[in-house]
Amino acid sequence: MTPFVADPVYLNGQFLPLAEAGISPLDRGFLYGDGVYEVIPVYSRQPFRIEEHLRRLEATLAGIRLANPLSLGDWKAVVEKLIAAAPWEDQSIYLQVTRGADDKRDHAFPPASVTPTSLAFASPLVTTPADVRARGVAAITVADQRWARCDLKVISLLANVLARQQAVEEGCAEALLIRDSFLKEGAASNIFVVKDGVVLAPPKTQQMLPGITYDVILELAEQHGQALVVREISEGELRAADEVWMTSSTKEILAITTLDGALVGTGQPGPVGERMWQWYQDFKNTVMRKG
Ligand code: PDD
Repeated sequence: MTPFVADPVYLNGQFLPLAEAGISPLDRGFLYGDGVYEVIPVYSRQPFRIEEHLRRLEATLAGIRLANPLSLGDWKAVVEKLIAAAPWEDQSIYLQVTRGADDKRDHAFPPASVTPTSLAFASPLVTTPADVRARGVAAITVADQRWARCDLKVISLLANVLARQQAVEEGCAEALLIRDSFLKEGAASNIFVVKDGVVLAPPKTQQMLPGITYDVILELAEQHGQALVVREISEGELRAADEVWMTSSTKEILAITTLDGALVGTGQPGPVGERMWQWYQDFKNTVMRKG
């Protein structure tokens, strides 16, 4: 076991040590990035919103025309087994399905006899240290160079990888993706903006991943009477925002306090984001930890 991946992992119907989990060099995930994935947070050994994550997996598989190799019930059983075997209370479960390995390289789909490759494993949920959260993080903007179906959670993530790496090399935590002068999302997160007390959220289009955390934010805003408008956000509005936050299953809600070296608002995490973070923590401790 590595410190970051628990044994056993799940591979094609078997539970086995990571060191024994082998995949063909001809696997289409490796050759073409031809596959899909999910990341499910686990709190107190309870998978959070597993139905929603598995539904998004199903939607992504349909989007790339690959049949789901496991039923919803089978995926849940795999996830439960991985959670039970892992040493951590809070985890993140990674699922991946690729179009499998043929005996040759060919762009077009392999014959139906080629079975998909299914992989799943548990990692510890790495939370943001309190001092980092209290300060907020730095981000850059970059041109969104991804393809036209960013609503699908596919493993071909090269544009996201290059954007995040650029951010890291500039001492930043995230890269915000701008397409046609509008904010879409982060390299691996959804982005919210606050202006004059109103939360703005980019709409779910084919240019953004429909985040599970994004949905929780919308629900919490509704529940607590926080004004929130779903609409396109221009680059100008992003730069003039009072607050900017990133959200994801692993980062939860994290304030972005500098953007391209300029302060966002006061340069401190703002009050609306702080309230949302608290609602999220309350929700996590009362609902998520109970499953
Ligand atoms: N990424 N947008 C992108 C491009 C993402 O990769 C992610 C999550 C999100 C947030 O989605 P959710 O709230 O469902 O986690 C938005 C995961 C965590 C990853 O790739 O590791």
